[in-house]
Amino acid sequence: SGEGLRAGAVAALPPFKNPIDIARALLDRGEHVLLAAEGAAAFARECGFAPCSREDLLTEQALARWKGMRGARRVEAGSPGGTVGAVACDAAGHVAAATSTGGTAGKRSGRVGDTPVLGAGTYADDAGGAASATGKGEDILRITLTATAIARLREGASAAEACAKALDDLARIDGLAGLIGVDRWGRVAETRNTRVMPWAAIASGVESAGA
Ligand code: GLY
Repeated sequence: SGEGLRAGAVAALPPFKNPIDIARALLDRGEHVLLAAEGAAAFARECGFAPCSREDLLTEQALARWKGMRGARRVEAGSPGGTVGAVACDAAGHVAAATSTGGTAGKRSGRVGDTPVLGAGTYADDAGGAASATGKGEDILRITLTATAIARLREGASAAEACAKALDDLARIDGLAGLIGVDRWGRVAETRNTRVMPWAAIASGVESAGA
């Protein structure tokens, strides 16, 4: 949340159906910002969220792709587990960002990507705007992609300029990512150097979408 820089995130979470709700509960609790693994699961159960099975989260498409790449231990941006992000700005200029992911295919147990890390996959600051990233988490972490975009928003760049410039920084490490952003005046932007990144926006009542 851009108001007061409040945040909540969970990482390496055992199977739960809506991890973003657990992250929101952590934000509302206001005690810690990031919980991981069994500790995050214990917090979720304490808040009344019910764990689910791995099978409950498995899609046929993800299973087929995993079988196809088994043994290769390759990490690709946009692989199964895909990331979903959202940014918003209300009428009072308060901004927020949320990002959820299954991580990348072929990842090691214990890997934490960019998504739950503030300033990497997700960031919001009322002094600038909000951003959410998708793509190869390792690249996004190394560039602190959303923090880079928000810093430019704070300096007065538009959402489009800030997202484009942040993505330019990825070229330093040949990084792969996409970014959605909104500035504190509600102007939205999306940019990517990945093959696809489906997006949709509603700004001033006007809907738009692309990939
Ligand atoms: N961007 C999602 C991840 O790398 O985990």
